[in-house]
Amino acid sequence: MATELTWLGHGSWLIATGEHHIVVDPFLTDSPTAAMKADDVPADFILVSHGHFDHVTDVERIAKRTGAMLISCFEVCQWFSRRGLEKNHPMNIGGSFAFPFGRVKMTMAQHSSTMPDGSNGGLAGGFLLSLAEGNVYFACDTGLFYDMKLIGAAGIALAALPIGDNFTMGPDDALEAVKLIEPRRVVPVHRGTWPVIEQDARAWAERVRHETQAEPVVIEPGGKIVL
Ligand code: NI
Ligand code: MN
Repeated sequence: MATELTWLGHGSWLIATGEHHIVVDPFLTDSPTAAMKADDVPADFILVSHGHFDHVTDVERIAKRTGAMLISCFEVCQWFSRRGLEKNHPMNIGGSFAFPFGRVKMTMAQHSSTMPDGSNGGLAGGFLLSLAEGNVYFACDTGLFYDMKLIGAAGIALAALPIGDNFTMGPDDALEAVKLIEPRRVVPVHRGTWPVIEQDARAWAERVRHETQAEPVVIEPGGKIVL
């Protein structure tokens, strides 16, 4: 079976490889645009980019129900350990590890990371996943940074980039990011959840189509991409 990625809204994803289910930054229960309920999400692994509430809200709930392993930076794993999530794999920026579904590299992000109770969430990151069908780059919450060019050098089949602005890159900087990363396909996320990050994704996709070699994929929450 081909790997299928479902955008659950905001920065949340469900990846089904045929053998494993991997959830990224689950924000479902309190998200106005969530495409799935936390109690319905299958999970073997949960990737968390940073400690902000709109990325961690449903981690505990999903992990405790499914027994999924949490993969995140050291501080985020420590915080969840104290809440009873023993099954976790701490990493940090620049490090990679081969999990049963593929290698995960934690990439840098220009963003902050504080846990919902105000404790230190370490450094915010992104994820580069090496899956059977190709590399997928989740920039997660970040501003534009020139080292995206180095991440792109790995050869990116699909990049998920924030375009919402205000908390992350907006459409202009996300377009620059596409030029640096040069992915085969790019999907705009972290948008439309609230009025402050409302963006015209289709207008952005037109700019991507005209100014870069990448193929933009605009989906709504619940939409799927086959890798
Ligand atoms: Ni954030
Ligand atoms: Mn966020």
